[in-house]
Amino acid sequence: MASRCAFQLNVLLILAFAATAFSALSPYYYEQVCPEALPTIKRVVEAAVYNEHRMGASLLRLHFHDCFVNAMCARRSLERMLRDQALSHHSSMASLSAFQLNVFLILAFAVTGFSALSPYYYDHVCPKALPTIKRVVEAAVYNERRMGGSLLRLHFHDCFVNGCDASLLLDSTSTIDSEKNSLANNNSARGFEVIDLIKNEVDKICGRPVVSCADILAVAARDSVVALGGSSWNVQLGRRDSTTGSRTQADKNLPSPFMDLPGLIKNFRRQGLNQKDLVALSGGHTLGFAQCFTFRDRIYNDTNIDRDFAKERRRTCPRSGGDTNLAPLDPSPASFDTAYFSNLVKYKGLLRSDQALFHGGSGSTDRLVKAYSYNAGAFSSDFAKSMVKMGNIKVLTGKQGQIRSNCRKVNYY
Ligand SMILES: *[C@@H]1O[C@H](CO)[C@@H](O)[C@H](O)[C@H]1NC(C)=O
Ligand SMILES: *[C@@H]1O[C@H](CO)[C@@H](O)[C@H](O)[C@H]1NC(C)=O
Repeated sequence: MASRCAFQLNVLLILAFAATAFSALSPYYYEQVCPEALPTIKRVVEAAVYNEHRMGASLLRLHFHDCFVNAMCARRSLERMLRDQALSHHSSMASLSAFQLNVFLILAFAVTGFSALSPYYYDHVCPKALPTIKRVVEAAVYNERRMGGSLLRLHFHDCFVNGCDASLLLDSTSTIDSEKNSLANNNSARGFEVIDLIKNEVDKICGRPVVSCADILAVAARDSVVALGGSSWNVQLGRRDSTTGSRTQADKNLPSPFMDLPGLIKNFRRQGLNQKDLVALSGGHTLGFAQCFTFRDRIYNDTNIDRDFAKERRRTCPRSGGDTNLAPLDPSPASFDTAYFSNLVKYKGLLRSDQALFHGGSGSTDRLVKAYSYNAGAFSSDFAKSMVKMGNIKVLTGKQGQIRSNCRKVNYY
């Protein structure tokens, strides 16, 4: 058993590594050189699978067996594991196949986002949970479109502080110094009433508290994006809620609007997120607003800013006073589009931490910002992947944590 677990962990690590190591690849690789390539492959595969259903699995397996040979670590681990399996199961071929299937399943899980989470987690316990969350989010966003960006930000601010465990939602008590009071959240994080409303409705429709507050945050973030015109994705589910929060950790881990590129890269790396995740997730600033005090220095002092844009922003953000006056983070703050990125290319990023992603020269994220600025499909797809990845940060599962009855309070029973 021990070696099996060790191996599975090994596979996961290799996959995690592979996921980051193969970043030179792109889904658009053949778009210019031969746009007909992918449709042609698809046509032949469809014909083959139609002709013989079994061919689908066979082709899938060919790719698997190709990838595993010449990746030395993976190969050694696989061989060792196959040997162990063979010994413990009297070398029956059946167990080898079962084991290969096992590896395959682990691989499939790892690719979609590690861990024990699953998009089908509530399908049996409470099939109405997800439609209910969606309904409440849609109503809230319809009522105030700004709420979409606010709910998206809640999930992000939850995940960056000790993982996606709804620690952000806990109010202060004698033992909890609420994350709501941290620098990045005080007088800024909003939407807590919407989360409370979702929780009430979901618990009512499920008949008991089975949906965690952490999952509600993850689903509400996705539903907000979709409500404002973004593409959908499958949210991984099954997180459990923390029994504590930490203002200190929030102050330490939430990125500030004043950060430069190295600071942002380091901040995201601490969460296991790479530069592509940084750029894609920053694209969340296609929604919402920022307060004057977060961009004042930029519009009065920075040089990497469009002059007319700076002038316009100064009109509602004076040198002193008006700290909480709002300005949109991109020209279409209620629409999930690529304007955030095309704006950066024009030096019209509102926050320093936004413009930091585009230097207009040798910046390591420039290329990606430019690509997203004219390829909405690439942005949507990468945003979804990075959201799933972020949603997996240090999640509590199984018997860890609890399912809170009230998202603001720990259960004491
Ligand atoms: C949060 O904001 C309130 C209202 O402006 C202020 O009174 C309080 O001191 C702030 N809390 C922290 C921890 O800075
Ligand atoms: C701009 O820079 C000057 C000089 O460093 C500084 O005194 C000032 O506080 C900065 N911010 C604004 C909004 O002028």
